[in-house]
Amino acid sequence: MSEAAGILARLPRTVEWRDGDLYLLDQTRLPHEVVIERQDSAGQVFAAIRTLKVRGAPAIGVAAAYGLCVALRPFRSGTVAAFRDAIDAEATSLEAARPTAVNLAWALRRMRARAVNTKSTTAADLFDALLDEALHIHDEDQRLCLGIGLAGAGLIAAGSGVLTHCNAGALCATGIGTATAPMYIAHERGVPFRVYADETRPLLQGARLTAWELQRAGIDVTLITDSMAASTMGAGLVDVVITGADRVARNGDAANKVGTLGLAILARHFGIPLYIAAPSSTLDFDCLTGADIPIEHRAPEEVLEFGGVRTAPAGLKARNPAFDVTPHAFIAGIVTERGIVRPPFDVSLSALFGRDDHA
Ligand code: MRU
Repeated sequence: MSEAAGILARLPRTVEWRDGDLYLLDQTRLPHEVVIERQDSAGQVFAAIRTLKVRGAPAIGVAAAYGLCVALRPFRSGTVAAFRDAIDAEATSLEAARPTAVNLAWALRRMRARAVNTKSTTAADLFDALLDEALHIHDEDQRLCLGIGLAGAGLIAAGSGVLTHCNAGALCATGIGTATAPMYIAHERGVPFRVYADETRPLLQGARLTAWELQRAGIDVTLITDSMAASTMGAGLVDVVITGADRVARNGDAANKVGTLGLAILARHFGIPLYIAAPSSTLDFDCLTGADIPIEHRAPEEVLEFGGVRTAPAGLKARNPAFDVTPHAFIAGIVTERGIVRPPFDVSLSALFGRDDHA
C-alpha cells in the first residue's frame, strides 16, 4: 500500500483502535480544529455516528465494528450466554444510528457472523475474536480504497477537470477514500488535473472536508457552491464527475449525498460522464432498485440555520433528505476495488461480485 501511505501520512486518522481503546476524529470540528476523541461507551459511538463526527459510508462501517467492541468490553468477564445476548442487543442498537449507508449494517452483520462461527468457551475469547474481525474490516477498508484508486486513476486525464460532491475522500473512509482515491493515485503519478468541490449544503462536507484534504495533498482544488455546478459544467471546465455512494442497489441505482441526482442530470445534459466510486462493502444486492434504499431525513434546523445561526424566518418548515438516488441510467460506470463496472449493472455487478462473496 505504498502509494497510499504517503497520502495518508498527511491526514489525521478517522478511526483508530489503539491500546484497547477506540479513537474517532471529530469531523464536525474540521477544518478549524483537529480533535480526536476517545470513545468510552456504545452510546458515545452511536452519537458520534448520528451527529456525523464520524461519517461517510466506509468510515461508519469500521467505526461500528469497533463500536461493538467498545459496547461489549463490560461483558468480557461474564458468561458466554450473556455476552452473546449483548452482541445482539448492542449491534441492533448501533445499527439504528443512520439508515442509508449500508456499510453500517454490513459491518455489524460480519461481526455477528464471526460470533456465530466462533465456538469460544469464554466471553473473553469471544471478545478477542470480534476485535480481530473489526481489525480485519478496518484493514480491508484501506485495501478497498486503494483498489478503487488503482482501478479509477485512468479516468483522470492530464489537464482535465473533475467535479465531486460531498466528501467521499480519505475522511469518509480509513484509506484514501472512494471518489478521491483515483484523484490521489493520479496525483501521485504526476498527472496534472483540477478538482471542483461542491460545497454540499446543508452540512458543507465539500467545503469543510473535501477541499481541506485535497488542499493538504497539494491537489488543485476549487470550491463552488452546489448551484454553481451547472455553470461550471457549461463553461467547459468539467470533463468527468466522480462521487461516492452510500448504497448501490443490484441494478446500479446509487444513493449518495443529496444533490448527486441533480449533478447526474446536469452531467447528462452536458455530455459529461458520471462515475460512482464504491467498494463492495457498499453494494446491497438485497435492494433490487434504488426505490428499496432507505433515505435518512435529518433535523430541519440543518436547513433553517447556517453554521448554527438562524437564516430563515421563525416558524418555517424545512425538508431535509440527506441523500438522493441516482438512477443507473445516468451512471457511466461504478468504480470498485475489482475494476470499473459498466452497464447493464444488474448483469455486470453480479458477475463481478457474486451474491455472497462480498458479504
Ligand atoms: O452524511 P455523510 O457525510 O455521511 O454523507 C456521506 C456521503 O454521502 C458520501 O458521499 C458517501 O458516504 C460516500 S463515501 C464513500
